[in-house]
Amino acid sequence: MAMGRRSGSSSSMALALLVLAASALSLLPASVAVTSPYVRPAPRAALSLLQDDDDDDQTPQQEYRGNLTTDNYVRKFQVHISMVGPDKMRVTWITDDDAPAIVDYGTTSGQYPFSVTGSTTTYSYVLYHSGKIHDAVIGPLQPSTTYFYRCSSNPSREFSFRTPPATLPFKFVIVGDFGQTGWTESTLKHIAAADYDMLLLPGDLSYADFIQTRWDSYGRLVEPLASARPWMMTEGNHEIEKLPLIERTPFKAYNARWRMPYDAGATPSGDNLYYSFDVAGGAVHVIMLGSYTDYGTGSAQYRWLQRDLAAIDRGRTAFVVALVHAPWYNSNDAHQGEGDAMRGAMEDLLYGARVDAVFAGHVHAYERFARVYGGKEDPCGPVYVTIGDGGNREGLAGKYIDPQPAISAFREASFGHGRLEVVNATHALWTWHRNDDDEPVVADQVWITSLASSPACNKNKNKM
Ligand SMILES: *[C@@H]1O[C@H](CO)[C@@H](O)[C@H](O)[C@H]1NC(C)=O
Ligand SMILES: *[C@@H]1O[C@H](CO)[C@@H](O)[C@H](O)[C@H]1NC(C)=O
Ligand SMILES: [Fe+2]
Repeated sequence: MAMGRRSGSSSSMALALLVLAASALSLLPASVAVTSPYVRPAPRAALSLLQDDDDDDQTPQQEYRGNLTTDNYVRKFQVHISMVGPDKMRVTWITDDDAPAIVDYGTTSGQYPFSVTGSTTTYSYVLYHSGKIHDAVIGPLQPSTTYFYRCSSNPSREFSFRTPPATLPFKFVIVGDFGQTGWTESTLKHIAAADYDMLLLPGDLSYADFIQTRWDSYGRLVEPLASARPWMMTEGNHEIEKLPLIERTPFKAYNARWRMPYDAGATPSGDNLYYSFDVAGGAVHVIMLGSYTDYGTGSAQYRWLQRDLAAIDRGRTAFVVALVHAPWYNSNDAHQGEGDAMRGAMEDLLYGARVDAVFAGHVHAYERFARVYGGKEDPCGPVYVTIGDGGNREGLAGKYIDPQPAISAFREASFGHGRLEVVNATHALWTWHRNDDDEPVVADQVWITSLASSPACNKNKNKM
């Protein structure tokens, strides 16, 4: 199974060959276990521009040298957007100084017939004081439409985004454990190079690790992408940032900076650490689970998940996917067994609702499993994927359990990103794009068929 080796300079030819090889792979039964022979190049350093933020300067916006009444505008806002219900978008941005929480927007560049005023929050962490974190929910918006907008009525920068489509097909990018290294930059470049509707992130964003200015540099790093397409995420362990006695509240920076729509959708959770939403007019239901908040039977998250799954109508919802940080299935040495307790608590719920796929991060590598339930291949279980390969500074997790378990279909310790294209009500194409030096290379690919369309998995169920 020699695949994925880049053959010299003719990279487009190599890419075409690899796509062919990958297509052939998808025809294999899931029980053929593949450990990729690809040998990774050396790790890359943290971005030096971004590291400047690690010094004593606590100013969140390094570029800011004036105020909003002068010509010296904030040049970077760390703007990012997230979906709120079917037709609204939350715009989040940060300024150094007090500024109105206004988003002006419209469908023509330079013209903003609509304005929404949202709210502003700040947080302090040890000696660090955040900038003013603003957010405003704009809409109703038309699907598949480009909107132009500006933040705090600041004319110096115009942003734009495209709303997701209201019907299938729908294209997700899925990648976790970003960090902010040269590999992160490479991953972001590869993501930007091909179109998508929404990015899903299964936790571990900035790797700020208590140094709060790194949240700001991360916000600036991802802004070009995160201001243009909705970025939806759940938390990882690097978001906790608790310090004994000094900072007792977990997720302080994450919750303040990356507010998700936990109060919207069919089953609001009331907690930023887990929530769900629909896309494509309800054809796809996305569940964001929280690995680092209570998940045991009877916990608030458990009861919310029960309600959320019970409310899904699989006659309408073709695909259900879940994201979680610590993988429930993992044949890498790294973080072995860390997701087991959560799997023990919640696997039956996901299996009963015929969830189609579960994407995890945490392990800095790529791994795809067969459909699995209770540790065994099961045609009605979810496909499990570990996609914690965004590019962070901790490096790759290259040690695997040997021999490869039969339920593990493909595994490789490389950075990259995944794409899930839900083509229609029965078929979704999953592809994994390895950062092969500076080329994105499709190194794994599989068709996932909706369990809602499988009579064998639904014969004893009237409505899921
Ligand atoms: C903003 O800049 C102008 C011009 O430099 C100055 O007059 C004004 O006092 C500044 N305002 C604040 C709040 O710093
Ligand atoms: C859904 O897409 C798959 C893959 O492209 C295709 O084989 C199938 O015929 C499509 N189904 C319908 C109903 O169009
Ligand atoms: Fe992690």
